[in-house]
Amino acid sequence: MKVALVFGTRPEAIKMCPIVKELKQHKEIETVVCVTGQHREMLRPILEIFQVNPDYNLDIMKEKQDLFDITDSVLQRIKEVLKKESPDIVLVHGDTTSAFAAALACFYMKVPVAHVEAGLRTYNKYSPYPEEFNRQAIDVISEIFFAPTDLSKGNLLSEGKRKDCIHVTGNTVIDALKTTVDGDFHSEILDWAGNSRLILMTAHRRENIGKTMQEMFEAIREAAEIYEDVKVVYPVHMNPAVKNAAEDILGNTDRIKLIEPLDVVEFHNLMNHAYLIMTDSGGIQEEAPALGKPVLVMRDTTERPEGVAAGTLKLVGTKKEDVKSGLIELLTDTCVYQKMAQAKNPYGDGHASERIVQVLCEWWRKQNAEEIC
Ligand code: UD1
Ligand code: UDP
Repeated sequence: MKVALVFGTRPEAIKMCPIVKELKQHKEIETVVCVTGQHREMLRPILEIFQVNPDYNLDIMKEKQDLFDITDSVLQRIKEVLKKESPDIVLVHGDTTSAFAAALACFYMKVPVAHVEAGLRTYNKYSPYPEEFNRQAIDVISEIFFAPTDLSKGNLLSEGKRKDCIHVTGNTVIDALKTTVDGDFHSEILDWAGNSRLILMTAHRRENIGKTMQEMFEAIREAAEIYEDVKVVYPVHMNPAVKNAAEDILGNTDRIKLIEPLDVVEFHNLMNHAYLIMTDSGGIQEEAPALGKPVLVMRDTTERPEGVAAGTLKLVGTKKEDVKSGLIELLTDTCVYQKMAQAKNPYGDGHASERIVQVLCEWWRKQNAEEIC
């Protein structure tokens, strides 16, 4: 069986590399890795850490790329790879435009698609944007659904997907955490934070860029200024629109440090040492419950309600007053803090990649049995 994996951004790489490693354990499977290069600098360190050497790099990234650029470049460039390799199945992950365009290309060429992290939903196609659409569209195209939880399986069933095509595997991000988190971690940031309470923040969502993101940043700056024992570190996403806003509003503040994006080992370990996390990220919402770190999610919707149910995540929205009051509450009310700081992992046991590969092998066996019949 020839399995191709296509991914292009930081979070997809973190969650797909464990599957690549598992596939490579199976000598009977030929594994082809195609990165779209939707992210360039932010992808490289992950591939190095997981020792994954892509067979193809579509190298599509452009500064300030828009959704047309990404969709168009991936569609055009992946065509040749699919033609040349003729994979038996293609794995795409999650909700990025790389994943959507790769799935669409497979559909055009009638190549079966398996969707890793399938079935997450907000049912609001503009939040997150364009990710909710991408996810739903990929699930229209896919033959196999790797749902991380029973809840995501339920979403797929309620949309009429076939039960025997849905497999609850857990999320491969837990597989990744098993290899990255190290009890013996040291870093300059931790030295800088000293005995202060360290807030780790990230923000990058397309729909927040502009006024919304400015308000989020102002809220954090104003709340952090109140507490002398609080320091904030923000590994700023490389999107120039995000960088500029971060520098304008959060730069030149003693207890706030803006740094370059961290590699995944550093980031996961910093999460593990942080007092709390502020984010609009998707993946961080899955990692934090496993590490028992309270997260204020600066979004109006989440496709990851499991972490909210577990008590680790709280949706504070994106308005300045809401973000600020949410943060102040968590910094002052130790009962609220302690309730959120419970490690409860709704995302599986760290063996998701093994289950995914087992399902693929079984699928292949059935395909061949049907052909013989
Ligand atoms: C993309 C995904 C989003 C995912 C996020 C993870 C889409 C539409 N968006 O959003 O779902 O949550 O990745 O981070 O698929 N840049 C660099 N170097 C890099 C990466 C980005 O310079 O390594 C800059 C470029 O100027 C690029 C811009 O950031 O044009 C935006 O990158 P893009 O992938 O389009 O959007 P993200 O916000 O990263
Ligand atoms: N991450 C990282 N370095 C950073 C910030 C985040 O390795 O400086 C990791 C984080 O642990 C998570 C993933 O990147 O696994 C989340 O990526 P991002 O927030 O860019 O995308 P999303 O999950 O929102 O799609």
